[in-house]
Amino acid sequence: MAYKFKTDLTAADVTPPAAFFNRRAFMVGLAGIGGASALGLSADAAEGDLTPNTWEEITTYNNFYEFGTGKSDPSENAGAFNPAPWSIEIDGLVDNPGTFSLDQITEGMTIEERIYRFRCVEAWSMVVPWNGFMLSELLNKAGVQSGAKYVAFETVVRPEEMLGQNRATLEWPYREGLRLDEAMHPLTLMATGIYGKPMPNQNGAPIRLVVPWKYGFKSIKSIVKITLTEEEPYATWNKINPREYGFYSNVNPEVTHPRWSQASERLIGGGLFAKRQDTLKFNGYEKEVAGMYEGMDLSKFF
Ligand code: MTE
Repeated sequence: MAYKFKTDLTAADVTPPAAFFNRRAFMVGLAGIGGASALGLSADAAEGDLTPNTWEEITTYNNFYEFGTGKSDPSENAGAFNPAPWSIEIDGLVDNPGTFSLDQITEGMTIEERIYRFRCVEAWSMVVPWNGFMLSELLNKAGVQSGAKYVAFETVVRPEEMLGQNRATLEWPYREGLRLDEAMHPLTLMATGIYGKPMPNQNGAPIRLVVPWKYGFKSIKSIVKITLTEEEPYATWNKINPREYGFYSNVNPEVTHPRWSQASERLIGGGLFAKRQDTLKFNGYEKEVAGMYEGMDLSKFF
């Protein structure tokens, strides 16, 4: 089984991959945030399907153009970035707009572990044990107004701490967006950690989006602004090159990227000569999310 919703789980479901971290330390670590009894921890390697990548792999093979375009640039250059204190501005079509500290944002949230497949548009993938809460919980707190149809997200702009922002590789801030139903979907996570530890700078400290059925570039890092809108929002890669990067960008092995196939992927950590694995429709979350796209033409890269 790929994952379970927290409501399906009991403490008996907790079977952390002992090879990677100490279970007791992990439980204690999270108890202070959400309360261990309230935690729903995902199914994991013990069920045979998803073996998380190592901490090392997840934190040294990154895409975070604010710190450079190479895979090791983020881990090498993100040390100067200081994500504390942090706040997020929530505005647009909400009942309770404002600027909220990270503590205010996470107050009352259930921080749970979700072990998700993560598929980059560049045809590599990982399995990541995220910690976070459902974006829907935050949007419900904000009070989404009836006219809202989309959610827009923005990454912080700090060229003095993010050396990549001194170059015009992308237009800063990095921006992304989701349709409201995608944002409210229970799989959509605001992640604050990995492996029970606070989110490393290179992975999008202190808080980032995770949308596991979409290509990784939709999972925007280090978020400082969330806006509820009526119109489809600006999305960085989509605006740069709409032919290659659609606004939706749902993982789809049948739709070839103009420059490479999306039918298979290289699992990071498998070694140079590891066999590629087949890419799954909606990255393996078809049962959960396909209903949202009924009637849409999925044959285009959109
Ligand atoms: N968010 C910002 N702000 N800047 C970026 O360059 N890269 C995206 C996404 N979020 C990116 C971003 C891409 S292309 C991917 S594949 C994932 O982050 C990588 O996440 P990871 O480094 O945690 O694996």
